[in-house]
Amino acid sequence: LRSRRPIIAIDGPAGAGKSTVARRVAQTLDLLYLDSGAMYRAITWLVLQRGIDPQDEVAVAEVIPDCEIRLAAGEPGTPFPSRIWINDQEVTRAIRSPAVTQHVSTVAAQPMVRQRLLQQQQVHGVHGGIVMEGRDIGTQVFPQAELKIFLTASVQERARRRQRDLAAQQHPPVSLEDLAQAIDERDRKDSTRRVAPLQQADDAIELCTDGLTIDDVVAKIVHLYHQSLNAA
Ligand code: DC
Repeated sequence: LRSRRPIIAIDGPAGAGKSTVARRVAQTLDLLYLDSGAMYRAITWLVLQRGIDPQDEVAVAEVIPDCEIRLAAGEPGTPFPSRIWINDQEVTRAIRSPAVTQHVSTVAAQPMVRQRLLQQQQVHGVHGGIVMEGRDIGTQVFPQAELKIFLTASVQERARRRQRDLAAQQHPPVSLEDLAQAIDERDRKDSTRRVAPLQQADDAIELCTDGLTIDDVVAKIVHLYHQSLNAA
């Protein structure tokens, strides 16, 4: 008999569609959903708000002990998958700002930050029954996950998607070249950091989403999930 419900880990580079897909998979299978990137973004927001230089590891480490992150499911139809608070201040929208996006890789590369969030993320999976998305879920957070997906898409495709997302949020327009460059830069930082880099787990299934609809991708993952349960 299973002592806990299954876990699905969805990792991959920025803009591959992880959030939308992970949320829809969770809805379809009636599992919890957690966006681990939002937690790194919340700490980054706090660092910037306190006027700390994101590269100053000592100063960043000092804010870690007293930062309390709280997450909740979003209302259906809202633009962001979850609501998130840090030290009782809601930052759901603020963590998506260009400033946070620009500095989050720097903050997420710091061992103290990762250590703290790793523990918090693992607590959410104690009873299983969760879809968690990020960069190191299959490799570090839940190496025992029943299903691991590594979701990818070409840089061009990811830049086009990011441009559509920004337009939907009424951001001023950004060129595709600039978006592609920013995505490339974030991929590079996330994959080359010393601690828990973005990496496909040996037992993860790679899914390239170029040319696939969200429905296609969700259906594939749901199918793989049922297959993995039958095999267990
Ligand atoms: O998925 P996202 O773009 O919201 O993630 C923001 C950043 O957080 C990303 O650049 C890398 C980092 N991150 C991480 O290092 N590990 C995770 N599990 C999730 C995100």
